[in-house]
Amino acid sequence: MRFLPLDKLIHGQDGYRKRFKIDSIDLILSKENDQIVAFGAVCPHQEQSLEEGYIEDDIFACPRHQFAFDLKTGEHQAGHCQSLPIFEVNYDGNQVGILIGS
Ligand code: FES
Repeated sequence: MRFLPLDKLIHGQDGYRKRFKIDSIDLILSKENDQIVAFGAVCPHQEQSLEEGYIEDDIFACPRHQFAFDLKTGEHQAGHCQSLPIFEVNYDGNQVGILIGS
C-alpha cells in the first residue's frame, strides 16, 4: 500500500468536502463530526455525484434517492444496491490522503 496525499490537514474543517479525480480514482474526501472519511464520488445506484450527500452516525445518504451506505464498510443499509467504495484515510505530516494498492 502506498500513501496518496490529497490535501493539507489544515483545510479539513468540519463540513469540508472535496472531490478528487486522480487517474482512475474518483473520490470524495469529507470531514464531519471531527471524522475524516473518503468514499467513491459516484453513487452505485444511478451514478449521482455524491458531493452533496448527507452524513450522520457513519451513514452516508445519497442526495438523489436517499440510499444509505455504511461509511466503514460501504454496504448499502437495505442490502439491495452495490456497495459504495470506501478508501482508507491516512496521514503523513500535515497531509491527509488515502492508502492505495501498490
Ligand atoms: S442515485 Fe444514489 S440512491 Fe439513487
